[in-house]
Amino acid sequence: MKDGKTSVLDRVLVLEMVRVTEAAALAASEWIGRGNEREADAAAVEAMRRAFNRLPISGRVVIGEGERDEAPMLYIGEEVGLGGQEVDIALDPLEGTTLTAKMSPNALAVLAIAERGNLLHAPDVYMDKIAVGPGYERGIVGLDRSPEENVEALAAARGCRCEEVTVCVLDRVRHEDLISRLRKVGARIVLIPDGDIAGVIATTDPATRIDMYLGIGGAPEGVLAAAALNCVGGQFQGRLLFRNDEERDRARRIGIEDLDRLYELQDLARGDTIFAATGVTDGSMLRGVRHNKRGFQTHSVVMRASSGTVRWIETEHLRKPV
Ligand code: FBP
Repeated sequence: MKDGKTSVLDRVLVLEMVRVTEAAALAASEWIGRGNEREADAAAVEAMRRAFNRLPISGRVVIGEGERDEAPMLYIGEEVGLGGQEVDIALDPLEGTTLTAKMSPNALAVLAIAERGNLLHAPDVYMDKIAVGPGYERGIVGLDRSPEENVEALAAARGCRCEEVTVCVLDRVRHEDLISRLRKVGARIVLIPDGDIAGVIATTDPATRIDMYLGIGGAPEGVLAAAALNCVGGQFQGRLLFRNDEERDRARRIGIEDLDRLYELQDLARGDTIFAATGVTDGSMLRGVRHNKRGFQTHSVVMRASSGTVRWIETEHLRKPV
């Protein structure tokens, strides 16, 4: 048991979750570098759904491919599995559809499961996010502080200059002001084209040299990243951002009352959680799918909150799962 998180999920599910992300990554890998986001995503979704439906679970998708009327498979509310332990599922069969289409780094197949009610049912809107890895005093950074204050606080905690703090930010026009303020305070910036789940998780791995993640990305991706941090430690805050009334209504329809709420990590993902990801294209954390004479190789990570275990799994597949 880690940080008071009791084991509730069947430990057998740890490996089963990797089978699911492997299946999605293998299916998406056909489409690497082929300029077709839609087909890449569809292949991953179909494979992930098939893999879930072989498992002895009663799974309910809480973060998925969209609302029931807009997504044919793995829509929010879809029940998957053959029956068994009841779990909530957050999934993104292909995180980084454009990365896959352009053969760029850091595309992943990713999911998290938790006991019913322990993953935020986040609407498909934007979320302002901040994350740091483990080892810092709680509350060291926060969304209600300025980017400059957050960099200065991290530098002070690490006993270094702001120039030695590295921040990961999605390369978007909406981040122009954030980027220029971070540069003024002296921080280094890793600008990523897509894939902020990997960006957030990178803060937990000193080898990436990324100290902090800042900026606006998808809310569903925020829940998945928080699920990973719930397993390995680290801090995360998020706040939903709405561009119009339709998005506000969408949030209200799924039960979000306080639209301005500041979510702490435990509000997004709590309790015994399993997080799994398999690389589609090579990335900072995982290698992408490789083809060789024998078949296919995948590289995955699976983490469990109650034990704090992090497993890195390399798998040789003689053929793709059907
Ligand atoms: P897709 O896999 O749907 O392409 O999402 C990739 C991603 O970069 C996420 O990692 C990120 O949270 C979101 O898109 C950012 O959204 P936008 O591209 O609209 O800025």
